[in-house]
Amino acid sequence: MTTMTSPNHAEQLSAIAQMEPLLEVKDLKKYFPIQAGFLKHTVGYVKAVDEVNITVQAGETLGVVGESGSGKTTLGRTIIRLYEPTGGDVLLRDGNRVLNVFELDSKQMHIFRRNAQMIFQDPYASLNPRMNVLETVGEPLLVNNIAKGRDLEERVAKVIQQVGLRVEHLRRFPHSFSGGQRQRIGIARALVVNPKLVVADEPVSALDVSIQAQILNLLKDLQAQYQLTYIFISHAMSVIRYMSDRIAVMYAGKLVELGPKQDILSHPLHPYSEALLSAVPKTTQRRKRIVSRGEVPDLGNLPAGCVFHPRCKYATEQCRTAIPHLRTISPGRTVSCHLADTLALEGI
Ligand SMILES: Nc1ncnc2c1ncn2[C@@H]1O[C@H](COP(=O)(O)OP(=O)(O)O)[C@@H](O)[C@H]1O
Ligand code: SF4
Ligand SMILES: [Mg+2]
Repeated sequence: MTTMTSPNHAEQLSAIAQMEPLLEVKDLKKYFPIQAGFLKHTVGYVKAVDEVNITVQAGETLGVVGESGSGKTTLGRTIIRLYEPTGGDVLLRDGNRVLNVFELDSKQMHIFRRNAQMIFQDPYASLNPRMNVLETVGEPLLVNNIAKGRDLEERVAKVIQQVGLRVEHLRRFPHSFSGGQRQRIGIARALVVNPKLVVADEPVSALDVSIQAQILNLLKDLQAQYQLTYIFISHAMSVIRYMSDRIAVMYAGKLVELGPKQDILSHPLHPYSEALLSAVPKTTQRRKRIVSRGEVPDLGNLPAGCVFHPRCKYATEQCRTAIPHLRTISPGRTVSCHLADTLALEGI
């Protein structure tokens, strides 16, 4: 795979790591009520995102990985304010000012929408079948008072070409495009406002394997060209590995490990990260896949102690009763596992 990412990308990243983060997510919670009975009383909560803390530096890609149901989509949607949070804060830097994402007035909301956009998983469901490409991609410009008329059309035509489509496509409707082309339209719609932060939620998971690499490389090229910052969500460690600078591992609504990509790949500190890595295909040598027993737990009824303990082959008595909290093991590396200092886990 080739990309236009500049060779000194690593140097740029280490320089910007010293700077203030573009995005800070603090103790973020998103609980969905569980309702029961005829009167729909709330009998509990699905803790889809529970006290998640992350920072994202300008220009980097933070990969968020975890099995289906681990809370990745809810995290992305809450950060981008498509869901109202249950608790916590999200702060986005805009020049010298900081937007508190959960306390925006309507004017600040427009500023936020210009700065932060989302690319959705399903390019079939996320595009309105009755809107043509010009209307679809132009809509964020209109609703955020950025452009209209001729100016809007010019901006849409430009971004459409940047994502690899043609001006002739502007009057066509979603049904006449392939899955990969539809995702290009979704990317154009996100990028047309010139955002700084893009949350990409499984952007290739609904696409044929044969075209996944094209879309991933397009996202990398656009990042290099426009200094975009990505939160890149995927259940597939192989995709996360290709896209990310740092990796956040989520399990059952919680962040269980966070660190630079290479560190996590070669020396995972959480047994769940090790299990995810064991599923990555290896070309040179066969690796024993660590099959985690059982399923992702019921987020409305979590196990006591470490939420991973029923599936963890290293679990001890302490793991069944005491909750492990996130702690820093070395600069930039955090993990929530009682045994993180003693286990020697296998990476790739
Ligand atoms: N709108 C919703 N209402 C109720 N529960 C939800 C909603 N969205 C997600 N959930 C629940 O939250 C949990 C996390 O889901 P999700 O964020 O979609 O995970 P992922 O993207 O990692 O697959 C799941 O248990 C899911 O059923
Ligand atoms: S705290 Fe215990 S159960 Fe949880 S991941 Fe670590 S070893 Fe496994
Ligand atoms: Mg999801």
